[in-house]
Amino acid sequence: MRTTTSSRADVLRAQADLAERRLRSPSRVANSARNARAEVDRRRRWEPARDALWSFIEPHLGEGARVAVLGAGNGDDLPLERIARRAGSVTLVDLDAKAARSARRRLPWRLRRRVEIAAHDVTGGVADRIVVAAVLGEAPDKVTGPEAPLPGAPYDLAIGDLLYSQLLYPALLDLGVGERRRAAFLRRYAPLLTRSTVARLHASAPLVVHVHDPLAWWQGHEQPADLGHILRLAEREDIEPALSAVARGLGPVESDPRAALRSFGIAPGATALWRWPFAEGVDYLTCATLAGGA
Ligand SMILES: C[S@@+](CC[C@H](N)C(=O)[O-])C[C@H]1O[C@@H](n2cnc3c(N)ncnc32)[C@H](O)[C@@H]1O
Repeated sequence: MRTTTSSRADVLRAQADLAERRLRSPSRVANSARNARAEVDRRRRWEPARDALWSFIEPHLGEGARVAVLGAGNGDDLPLERIARRAGSVTLVDLDAKAARSARRRLPWRLRRRVEIAAHDVTGGVADRIVVAAVLGEAPDKVTGPEAPLPGAPYDLAIGDLLYSQLLYPALLDLGVGERRRAAFLRRYAPLLTRSTVARLHASAPLVVHVHDPLAWWQGHEQPADLGHILRLAEREDIEPALSAVARGLGPVESDPRAALRSFGIAPGATALWRWPFAEGVDYLTCATLAGGA
């Protein structure tokens, strides 16, 4: 009986502790929870996505270059070993330093020394303020995202790695913000955070690779765009028609770094699209865009 009472008290204490941490740093708690939940076979499943990202960045990665990866997380979609072999230094920037440290631990020890971890919120706490305001049903005051370079800048190459759609959505979801208010907050504030993130990457390096996930497919999810069709166009390097097909789909357009580039007058350069086999029965489309340079 005593055991039952005390374990119930433990559960309630743990729930109260989680609720408090969620309100104190909603984005970090929500993103770290997702990183911690990564399934064991994910690295093997994501191998084609790592290969595709390597093919995309390899021609732009000079011997001994200084590289930053924002949103490195567990490093499962990131060809980190290949990058570290070529680069002089790699800084993994993420809210979740624990995930980035585990990615570094997987490297051979000789390469580990080239990799640094920077625990950092690219929104400078602005995403958290927006999320707390959404929970309270208020409008956040004075919302402007930071535009300063990332920690450790300048770099030769900066990569924004699949974090744009994660700046607000996971924390809004985990804090129980209802669907309509969530959609309204995403429409209103995600473009601003995406622009600030894009600005910070471009303030950090002359060459930036933006990797984002414009569309997803799973059973029961309404998705008018056809993944096979988009991939066939992309394989033939018919990128403009492929992007038009992407635009006809349903996805988080408010977190599109290409729209942010356009708003800054930066022309998107080389672009590639590939399938990201996210989980059993769940596919995402990955879009990589090179920007900057001459
Ligand atoms: C979907 S994951 C990207 C996949 C990741 N590269 C991997 O292979 O595991 C998004 C990453 O962005 C990070 N992130 C989200 N919001 C962030 C923020 N405001 N500042 C820095 N990192 C953030 C998350 O912690 C997470 O590691």
